[in-house]
Amino acid sequence: MNKEDFPIFKEKIRGKRLTYLDSAASAQKPLCVIQAMSDFMLRDYANVHRGIYLLSEKATQHFEQARKTVADFIRADEGEIVFTRSATESVNLVASSFGESFKEGDEIIVSVAEHHSNFVTWQQLAAKKNLVLRVVDITDEGALRFDQLEAFLNNKTKLVALTQMSNLTGSRFDIKKAAALAHQAGAKLLADGCQGVVHAPQDMKELDCDFYAFSAHKLYGPTGLGVLYGKREILEQMPPYQYGGDMVKSVTIEKTAFADPPARFEAGTPAIVQTVGLQKAVEYVSRLSMKRIEAYEGELTAYMKEGLDSLPFVRQLGTQKEKGGVFSFVVDGVHPQDIAMVLDQEGVCVRAGHHCAQPLSERLGVSSSVRASLGLYNDKEDVEAFIAALEKAVSFFKKGKIG
Ligand code: ALA
Repeated sequence: MNKEDFPIFKEKIRGKRLTYLDSAASAQKPLCVIQAMSDFMLRDYANVHRGIYLLSEKATQHFEQARKTVADFIRADEGEIVFTRSATESVNLVASSFGESFKEGDEIIVSVAEHHSNFVTWQQLAAKKNLVLRVVDITDEGALRFDQLEAFLNNKTKLVALTQMSNLTGSRFDIKKAAALAHQAGAKLLADGCQGVVHAPQDMKELDCDFYAFSAHKLYGPTGLGVLYGKREILEQMPPYQYGGDMVKSVTIEKTAFADPPARFEAGTPAIVQTVGLQKAVEYVSRLSMKRIEAYEGELTAYMKEGLDSLPFVRQLGTQKEKGGVFSFVVDGVHPQDIAMVLDQEGVCVRAGHHCAQPLSERLGVSSSVRASLGLYNDKEDVEAFIAALEKAVSFFKKGKIG
C-alpha cells in the first residue's frame, strides 16, 4: 500500500524494478519523513533544553512533541518515553541501570529466539554478576514454549526479556501473557518490540510489560534513534547509566542531583533531527492506520506463504500460525548468500546470514538462511517478482544455468 509515498521505489536496481524485501533490517522512508527532517534543519534547528532564544525553544518544542507523539502511539505517558541511539541501546540501558541491583544467584529468562541485542546483553550481565541465565526454547514451528517459561519462573527471577516478533521466523510471542506470568513470580518483563511495533497497533497499558524497546529506522523513520518505554514508577527507581549534560538537576563539586526520567537517561545532545523524523513517521503510519497496515500485511503474508509453499525445494524456518511477514528459508545444496546474490541481480533485496540471531539459527538446525521481510509498501507484484527470481536462482545453481 502507498508505495508512491516512498521515493526510493522510483529508482531502478541494475536496470530492474526495485523489489525491497529487507524491511526487517531497515525500512524505506516516505517523503514526508525526509522532508520533515530537512525542513527542521532548514528552518528550526538548534540544540534543545539549553537556549532561551526562540530557535532553541522551537527545537525543544519539536523534540518534546515527538516524545508525546511516540507516547500516544503506544499508549504510554510522555514521561515513560526515553530516547536512545537505538533499540540495542535501549536494552543495554535497562541492563546497565535496572540490572545494576541484580545480585549473585538472581535469574534472568530470555528465549532462544532473541536477536543478539536481547540475548548477548543479558548473557554478559549474567557473566559479570554471576546471575543465572535461563533460555526458553521454542517448538519446531517457532512458537514460544510457555510451559518452559512457567517452569523457569521462580522467586529469584528478576527479569524476563522476550521478543514480541522474531526477526528470523516472524513468530509472534504473546507478551501480555508472558508479562502476567512474570509479574506473578515478582519479575519484570522487557519486550523487544523492534519487529512488533512495525506491524500491529501497540498499547502499553494493555500489554502491561515493564519495558518495551524499539528503533525508529524499522518504523519508516531515520537511523540513529531508539525508544525505550519504561513504566514510570520503575524508571523513577533506576539510576542513570550515562553521565553528562541535560540529565542533572544541579551539580556541585561534591555531588550531583539527577533529573527525573526521562531526562535522567538522556545524557548529552540527543538525536534531535531524528526525533522529528520519527514523529513524522509515526504520524504517517497512524494516518494510514496501524490496524489497516496489519490487515494489509496479513493478506500479503498469506500470499507470500502460498508462494513459498509452492516451491518444493524451499524449507521454511518457523511455520507457526501466528506469524508476521518475515520469512527465512533454506534450499538444500545452495548457499543462502548465493541465492541472495542472484536475487540482487533481479533487483530483489533480501538478507542472508544468521540475522543476528545465531542461537535461533542453531535451534532451527541451520547456520545461515535467506530472509525476505515485508513492509507496508510491498505488494503482490513484489511477492511474484521474488518467487520468480528465487525459482530462477535455484534453477541456476541446481542446473548450472539461468532460466
Ligand atoms: N535487526 C535487524 C535485522 O534483523 C538489523 O536484520
